[in-house]
Amino acid sequence: MPKKFIVANWKMHKTVREALAFLDEFIPITKGLNGREIGIAPTFICIESVGKVLINTSIKLCAQNAFYENKGAYTGEVSPAMLKDCGVEYVIIGHSERRKYFYENDDIINKKIHACIKEGLKVIFCIGETLEDRQNNKTMEILKTQIRNGLLEINSPEALTIAYEPVWAIGTGVVATEEQIKQSHLFIRNQLKEIYGERANEVRILYGGSVTPENIKSIMAIDNVEGVLVGGASLDPLKFAKIVKY
Ligand code: 13P
Repeated sequence: MPKKFIVANWKMHKTVREALAFLDEFIPITKGLNGREIGIAPTFICIESVGKVLINTSIKLCAQNAFYENKGAYTGEVSPAMLKDCGVEYVIIGHSERRKYFYENDDIINKKIHACIKEGLKVIFCIGETLEDRQNNKTMEILKTQIRNGLLEINSPEALTIAYEPVWAIGTGVVATEEQIKQSHLFIRNQLKEIYGERANEVRILYGGSVTPENIKSIMAIDNVEGVLVGGASLDPLKFAKIVKY
């Protein structure tokens, strides 16, 4: 059984000083916690200073994005090689906020996944339907398209984690029901089996969307849920500690 994986996605929150203050509080409370893997994805500007603190812990340094080239004239972008050099282990790719605000499509996401894996980084690949998709009974079709296109010619299931994040559950306080999570995670597992056969079981599937200390236990108990990707509730060290210690 792979370890449960609990990842903080800080999105565009926290200055370097605030990030370090979080770690000062969070690390001592979670020391010695066995059997689960914790990740923190700060903003790029905090990556190096957060990484220097995490190097003395078992918490994994994660990034929220990466470009698909390693260097060149790409103003404003950060490359997989640069992240690797800073000690990053996992990169979140294809988050719905990247898709929505920065027009990332499946093709760009696929290129980013290839580039990260080539650099020896592991990828947390985000997928999920909008409310409109769900209301039109298109959830499974959308998930299938995102998986097929995003993972095109990706042959390293050992480097992959999938995060199922229904867009309508992100930052809304509306968590998907147990049945909805169960159905989507099973569907994702079956899609992975079609692509990777038995090796599909090496891929952890995380749930994301309004995870809190109050609902973590019931979410983690659902079949095929091997962890969570947490936004809002990961910004507070005490709340995030409750989640990782659920
Ligand atoms: P919230 O936990 O704030 O709903 O965000 C989820 C998310 O987008 C994590 O990547």
